Amino acid sequence: MNRTIIITGGAGFIGSHVVRLFVNKYPDYKIINLDALTYAGNLENIKDIEGKSNYHFSKTDILDTAALERLFAEHKPDGVIHLAAESHVDRSILSPLDFVYTNVIGTVNLLNAAKKIWNNDFTGKLFYHVSTDEVYGALGDTGFFTEETKYDPHSPYSASKASSDHFVRAYHDTYGLPIVISNCSNNYGPNHFPEKLIPLFINNIIQKKPLPVYGDGLYTRDWLFVKDHAAAINLIFHNGKNGDTYNIGGFNEWKNIDLVKLLCKLMDEKLGNATGTSEQLITYIKDRPGHDRRYAIDATKINKELGWTPSVTFEEGLSLTIDWYLQNEEWLKNVTSGAYKNYYERMYGEEGREKV
Ligand code: NAD
Ligand code: TYD
Repeated sequence: MNRTIIITGGAGFIGSHVVRLFVNKYPDYKIINLDALTYAGNLENIKDIEGKSNYHFSKTDILDTAALERLFAEHKPDGVIHLAAESHVDRSILSPLDFVYTNVIGTVNLLNAAKKIWNNDFTGKLFYHVSTDEVYGALGDTGFFTEETKYDPHSPYSASKASSDHFVRAYHDTYGLPIVISNCSNNYGPNHFPEKLIPLFINNIIQKKPLPVYGDGLYTRDWLFVKDHAAAINLIFHNGKNGDTYNIGGFNEWKNIDLVKLLCKLMDEKLGNATGTSEQLITYIKDRPGHDRRYAIDATKINKELGWTPSVTFEEGLSLTIDWYLQNEEWLKNVTSGAYKNYYERMYGEEGREKV
């Protein structure tokens, strides 16, 4: 079947893996990668597919309603997979309004563009919204987030994502727009911008810079390899039930400090360092405000209904990820020059978080 799909945020971390999967797997589909190329968007991430005939790129901001209308009128997509977002909790604490604009208003703009072009003919149409487990808030020592867990966001990032999820459901309930939403746990893998824990720490180990662990380091996250997230998105897009939500997770919980120690061990092995070299870089610093203690996803529904399961263990995925960063030093150098340096100084420098 021929389909035309607009994938937003396809120059970012997860989006680039989703675009690559769709372009390579479905030569008969027309894939339009819509991305504003913010600091987090990088066409280098999808260089390998830019010459493919079923791939098109449009540098478009989802805040630009006229440009969205033009693009939707030109391509008449039957599917939208929406990943474009401001995605980093720490930046949301520094600048919450950017998250309201892109994540809330940008999502509503896209919903409006889809609603207008589909004009009540919803056969074969789908608006797929990619969201996060952070909308569910924080867990104690036990329990999991299910699709029924009540929303309870704490950071400006998660509040903006929760709001966008509500708008997507509201367009389904009010206008009949066909939608699916997935809420995924923390991703890691190649092309991850080095402001998030794993790529930031890989980069700092390479640079022999301090590894800034927030608070007591006992915060817990469930980690999923990015290609397994992309595979889940593919399954949900094609086989998910209209109006439904799917939680995606790795059944792979790590306390930050344990993860950082594993990362240090793997990096020492790969860099030929003496055992314990990288661990010496660990520095506890002041906690993130409003820091959610624990996230853990119950991914039973997607497993049972769609047969999805993660394909790599955490050690395998982490090893692949480290190898990618070691083999792509130029990419790392490019994304950590310029504006990244200002952000890093603001977050972690003299003016940033204090040591504890
Ligand atoms: P990212 O920050 O790496 O990429 C975001 C992309 O969106 C970039 O290419 C950027 O240029 C683009 N973008 C930002 N603002 C835009 C705008 N106004 N108009 C058009 N494009 C814009 O993010 P990511 O980590 O790849 O996350 C992708 C999606 O997945 C987000 O919606 C995020 O909330 C969700 N998510 C992420 C994780 C994770 O661990 N990274 C986990 C669960 C869900
Ligand atoms: P992050 O990768 O920012 O993802 P999220 O906050 O969306 O879960 O952070 C993962 C965990 O690592 C989180 O508990 C915060 C912690 N963290 C640090 O301890 N130091 C850091 O420099 C960063 C970026 C994160």
